[in-house]
Amino acid sequence: MAMLLELKNVTKIFRYGFFGFSFKAVDNINISLEDKPFIFTLAGESGSGKTTLARIILGVHRPEYGSVLYKGKDIFKLSSSEMKWFKKEVQAVFQDPYAAFNPLRKVYGYLYDTAKNVAGLSRDEIDGYIDEVLRRVGLNLEKVVGKYPHEFSGGELQRVSIARALITKPRLIIADEPVSMLDASLRINIVNLFKELKDDLKISFIYITHDLSTAYYISDWIAIMYRGWVVEQGPVEKVLSEPLHPYTQTLLLSVPIPDIRLRNKWLSAIKLSATIEEKEFIAKGCKYAGRCPHAKDICFKSEPPTIAIGDVIVKCWLYQK
Ligand SMILES: Nc1ncnc2c1ncn2[C@@H]1O[C@H](COP(=O)(O)OP(=O)(O)OP(=O)(O)O)[C@@H](O)[C@H]1O
Ligand SMILES: [Mg+2]
Repeated sequence: MAMLLELKNVTKIFRYGFFGFSFKAVDNINISLEDKPFIFTLAGESGSGKTTLARIILGVHRPEYGSVLYKGKDIFKLSSSEMKWFKKEVQAVFQDPYAAFNPLRKVYGYLYDTAKNVAGLSRDEIDGYIDEVLRRVGLNLEKVVGKYPHEFSGGELQRVSIARALITKPRLIIADEPVSMLDASLRINIVNLFKELKDDLKISFIYITHDLSTAYYISDWIAIMYRGWVVEQGPVEKVLSEPLHPYTQTLLLSVPIPDIRLRNKWLSAIKLSATIEEKEFIAKGCKYAGRCPHAKDICFKSEPPTIAIGDVIVKCWLYQK
């Protein structure tokens, strides 16, 4: 089957400070998503690189290494007309809907401007089209016209930003923690909406979240990130019911607690002059070894292999035969 999105060895390096300390926020990631409607969840603790990866897929961050192919085209080598096409096909929804709209501008203006850019619509047709799109997300034109962002509830405004994303008839929507600022009772309505849009409009989603319960409920595929690595990916029911990677296991139990003894053992194995962050960067072993209850000697010394077990892919020494 043709691929919608392929990330090949994607690495994003951020550099800091006078000494040029650098670290890999996204580290050699490989992901392939088939060209059929799906919900792909990216999960992992704060700072693991989820938003950075989302920005790479949106073309905002250019990776230092690797390539990102959307429908077979390298998104960093698009012509200007292909870029226009890409921007219609791939849309984003962010965490804070109030930050996505200027508080002094009426929300309708955003919808109108986006609709105006969709070719072939006359002024009269635009309102009808906006109304149709708003109805998809449980609103309508009447409820939106004339209102400023603060006149909506958080849940309603998030629906408006989803409608705005839908206006260009996208094939892929990247939703970065779209429900984390909403009440728990509203979250399920929004994630249900993603499921409906996937089924009815054949839109795929990259859903970024800390919330494994909504992920379990809506997604087809999940990738667990840990410090720039995808440590495990596979069908969601498999990964979340029989997690293979020790980090996924801990993530499902609770927030992982660092084991100071293991961490010291690891740090003592590497260059002494480096700062702690640099040591972690220089370390050759598994990034999770310092916290892993199953870590063996090899985990501190060499990067773990990426191993396929059925349709789950896990980056861990424990599964090396
Ligand atoms: N523009 C930037 N310049 C330098 N460092 C950055 C930049 N953006 C992100 N980082 C760093 O990269 C790492 C990954 O950040 P990222 O925002 O991708 O994490 P995240 O998984 O989305 O976290 P969260 O769950 O808190 O949103 C963090 O250590 C962050 O400080
Ligand atoms: Mg983030």
